[in-house]
Amino acid sequence: MNITIVGTGYVGLVTGTTLAELGNSVYCVDIDEKKVEGMKNGIVPIYEPNLEEMFLRNIQSERLFFTTDLKEALDKSEVIYLALPTPPGEDGSADLSYVLKVAHDIGEMMTEYKVIVNKSTVPVGTADKVRKVIASKTKIPFDVVSNPEFLREGFAVEDSMNPARVVVGSSSETAKDIMAKIYQPFTNTGVPIIFMDEKSSELTKYASNSFLAVKITFMNEIANYCEKVGADVDKVRLGMGSDDRIGHRFLFPGIGYGGSCFPKDVKALIKSGKDDDFDFQILQATEKVNIAQKVILVSEIEKYFKGDLEGKKIAVWGLAFKANTDDIREASSLDNIALLTAKGAKITAYDLIAEENVKKLLGDKIKYANTMYDALEGADALFIATEWPEFKNPNFDLMAKKMKNKVIFDGRNMFPLEVADQNGFYYKSIGRKTILN
Ligand code: UDX
Repeated sequence: MNITIVGTGYVGLVTGTTLAELGNSVYCVDIDEKKVEGMKNGIVPIYEPNLEEMFLRNIQSERLFFTTDLKEALDKSEVIYLALPTPPGEDGSADLSYVLKVAHDIGEMMTEYKVIVNKSTVPVGTADKVRKVIASKTKIPFDVVSNPEFLREGFAVEDSMNPARVVVGSSSETAKDIMAKIYQPFTNTGVPIIFMDEKSSELTKYASNSFLAVKITFMNEIANYCEKVGADVDKVRLGMGSDDRIGHRFLFPGIGYGGSCFPKDVKALIKSGKDDDFDFQILQATEKVNIAQKVILVSEIEKYFKGDLEGKKIAVWGLAFKANTDDIREASSLDNIALLTAKGAKITAYDLIAEENVKKLLGDKIKYANTMYDALEGADALFIATEWPEFKNPNFDLMAKKMKNKVIFDGRNMFPLEVADQNGFYYKSIGRKTILN
């Protein structure tokens, strides 16, 4: 099949590459000329494990093309995926202007039947809006389908090649048949394709992300309570997760959830609810708890230094919002750095992958180290903000040598308590007892 993808951001690029890998001819359209030129020359504009290999393979096999010309791509394709940004507005609602602008252009340019697929995370009712905009520009038949994306950053290729499910919202039998054909390589291997109406499909995406945000936040509250009563959240987590109605995943407590999806989607669902006179009480509580959780260790750091952080040298390990990505959107590291700096602390950060993005944002307001150990030179304390695998088994002797004080505040529970204890560190993590060395 010939497919156009409009928007080569995270979702668009991964979806396009995946659909090419499944044997389709895919035309990726973007308004950014420099980016398109780069992609034509084999430059992948984002960091994502295993993407480059698949991207280059499909360019070479002449199944993956890039252009700034929407009309050219449109004329070649029966199916058009919209993978455009839907940034949150001031009030948290998703801004649909990019999606509706392209819908308008498609309406003006199309000369035969098309299926328009909404891949972006869009509020309930967006398929109807897109339909209306296109219908106002053309009499040619078309269908609008909702097909939300569930991939995780850092696992985008793995997730998009092995989806847990494919959700398709469509009220047209023709469009359903076309979507079933596109995803046949998946359904053939047992991946369920779940058909529903457009609105239910749109809500499925928000409900899934919000539920996971609630799950994490619930565990963060349990962790905070563990500290109050002297329980160990790692034990509670294992005990709870063994019930397969609960499951082990997304029960890891820490310094809150971040990234481009959870915070935005929770906010947007609360706002959509408000617009429909509906009060999402659980989500409002989740948002509030998460904001506080992100900086929960700062008061502990202050307590340790008896309220005086002026001139204290704090090393920060990890800047990305989670491991395996260079994405720093809504990263807890940034909230902590802002707060610690405001209280007079001096930050030296280390993150091999995300450093460049933080530099663009913070410049020389903080220092950057080339290795995780260099960051510790003369440090009064270490703060761990991201669960990069390289932090899991550090050389504690070398750490002790470099640091002024053997003190760790760990927002991601990287070490077993006994390991920190045996190595003689003061160790404060989340939902577990503090090791008072
Ligand atoms: C998420 C969804 O998982 C994905 O299905 C959707 O399409 C987009 O949003 P992503 O934002 O890439 O993906 O990251 P994810 O791995 O889900 O983590 C989100 C946040 O939750 C991170 O800040 C992570 O550190 C935090 N998290 C995750 C926890 O604090 N504890 C956990 O147990 C799991």
